[in-house]
Amino acid sequence: MINQDTLEKLRKEAFAAVDNAKDEKDLEEVRIRYLGRKGELTQILKSIATLPPELKPVIGRLANQLKKDLEASLKQALKEIKRQGEEKLVDIDLSLPGRPYPLGKLHPISQIMEEICAIFLRMGFSIAKGPEVELDYYNFEALNIPQDHPARDMQATFYIAPGIVLRTHTSPIQIRAMETMRPPLRIIAPGKVYRCDSDVTHTPMFHQIEGLLVDRKVSFADLKGLLTVFAQETFGSQTRVRFRPSYFPFTEPSVEMDISCVICGGKGCRVCGDTGWLEILGAGMVHPNVFRAVGYTPTEWTGLAFGLGVERIAMLKFGIDDIRLFYENHLKFLEQF
Ligand code: PHE
Repeated sequence: MINQDTLEKLRKEAFAAVDNAKDEKDLEEVRIRYLGRKGELTQILKSIATLPPELKPVIGRLANQLKKDLEASLKQALKEIKRQGEEKLVDIDLSLPGRPYPLGKLHPISQIMEEICAIFLRMGFSIAKGPEVELDYYNFEALNIPQDHPARDMQATFYIAPGIVLRTHTSPIQIRAMETMRPPLRIIAPGKVYRCDSDVTHTPMFHQIEGLLVDRKVSFADLKGLLTVFAQETFGSQTRVRFRPSYFPFTEPSVEMDISCVICGGKGCRVCGDTGWLEILGAGMVHPNVFRAVGYTPTEWTGLAFGLGVERIAMLKFGIDDIRLFYENHLKFLEQF
């Protein structure tokens, strides 16, 4: 039979259960256990009607009081648990640095190409393009390299079909530019080129930047001045240059330009083969036969042209001794630039 002790015991139990509740789910379980439709306290309240009349008022009052107190306590506990949850939400250190997002960046070869093109763009050149799968005519014939000319062996050519090659240099863009433009003109043409070659300094695909300037009275002094400015902007103002006689069928005279070694400054080291000089490009005055091929009058127009290897310049600038590293796509390597 229910008496005051039963209620007292129930009160202690119920309040302890509220105290122990860790979250909203726990609290709901406590509520159901005591105040639910079949809850312990609910059962007691229902059974009051069956009590002897002298006990009814006392037990009834106590039980109802307990119900009120328990409801209040549950409400208070719920409020407290919600508050703690909100506190946790704002418990963030706003001064912490954000999570870094890895940023992509340009491949070192692209970086060097953009840098070199920018130097010539500042000097009034504009960008020209041409196809990588090229006609024999543009890659050789129009550049004064006829069939059976020994200069065809200077570059091991990939043939696609009779009369169609993978361009072995960017010089065919000279022809395409002159065919579509009237002189005077100044163009710079970056792009991929292909040669059947592979070792620590050669890959079958590499990049060149071609330059062509056509105007009246262009002199060899213009060529030397222009390329000296380029070398000093690319490798630093203390860089010295020298020009050696060379041969290209599409320029006359032809030269190769060396810069003072970027590693030893000219004293001689492993990179420059103890000469103090590094070859970085080929150049020359546009051959009259090239002008004839595009319908420019050779007595009226003069021009200078040059072609440089981007990988070689990137290797010298970044101190890289194996060209193949550029194309193996190891992030550890690429992330350094
Ligand atoms: N096309 C030549 C090469 O690939 C370089 C060059 C370009 C030389 C223009 C002279 C003038 O070797």
